[in-house]
Amino acid sequence: MDKDILGNKKIAIIGNGHIGQAIAMGFITGGLKQLQVLISNKSNNIELTKKADYIFIAVKPFIVKSVLKEIKPFIRKKIVLSVAAGVTMEIIEKILGKKQKIIRLMPNIPVSENKGVIGFFANKYISSSEKNEVESLISILGKIIFCKKEKDTDSLTILAGCGPAISAYFIDLLSNFAVQQGFSQGESMNMALKIFEGTIDHLKRHNLIASELIKSVATKGGITETIVGSLYSDRVDVLFMKAMEKGNLKISDLKNKLK
Ligand SMILES: NC(=O)c1ccc[n+]([C@@H]2O[C@H](COP(=O)([O-])OP(=O)(O)OC[C@H]3O[C@@H](n4cnc5c(N)ncnc54)[C@H](OP(=O)(O)O)[C@@H]3O)[C@@H](O)[C@H]2O)c1
Repeated sequence: MDKDILGNKKIAIIGNGHIGQAIAMGFITGGLKQLQVLISNKSNNIELTKKADYIFIAVKPFIVKSVLKEIKPFIRKKIVLSVAAGVTMEIIEKILGKKQKIIRLMPNIPVSENKGVIGFFANKYISSSEKNEVESLISILGKIIFCKKEKDTDSLTILAGCGPAISAYFIDLLSNFAVQQGFSQGESMNMALKIFEGTIDHLKRHNLIASELIKSVATKGGITETIVGSLYSDRVDVLFMKAMEKGNLKISDLKNKLK
């Protein structure tokens, strides 16, 4: 890992919550120096903004406007990177001014292990050299998905942002079944984790898509086919898509309330 990506520059993270801490941890475990990553304690937003070159906004969506107004006089040519769901470029530009360099990021909690998936959408005031610089920095945290249009950041909110909880839900289902079969809570969780880990490794190593793996395990007339067949015939896939669609509606609702 190139530890000199930042040179003399610094990062300020405004919002010391779940994602703010995960981003800070990801940068530090990824090789940045502790002194280059400043994380706010609510009372020092301005002080940190003055010191840093990259300003991450990691507060709840309804707090973003007040934080931006607070730090606006000290931002000048710095790059603002907002991770807040549903807070559009238009809202941010309206407060900071049209020419402000802004990037919307949509990270997820595994950024702390440098294994995040991070949606990336920059406004037109970010030059290509700045984009490259930020790309090197953000790639410390995981895989960047460049959004062609801003609307894609909403999809990334559901896929990346919510993805770890959705994945954990399925791990939990498998683990709960193991508990029901008489295994201890700890054994069940470890087993479920290993099954997911092994499945992911297998998919990657053999370059398979998920449906190909299902086909290879669910042989005709076998036990796996019975279980997977039951999931399909009970339309668990439809229920899943319905739940995801509710996420889309929630984002639209959030955006309307933020206007
Ligand atoms: N959590 C995720 O996995 C995730 C993923 C992608 C994007 N996001 C986005 O990240 C943002 C933060 O989410 P979160 O889950 O990290 O929320 P969180 O855990 O509640 O963290 C927000 C933090 O901001 C602090 N804060 C409140 N007012 C502040 C102010 N005026 N100045 C500085 N800090 C202030 C809060 O402190 P107090 O608690 O003391 O008020 C808290 O530490 C949201 O906009 C969300 O959409 C989250």
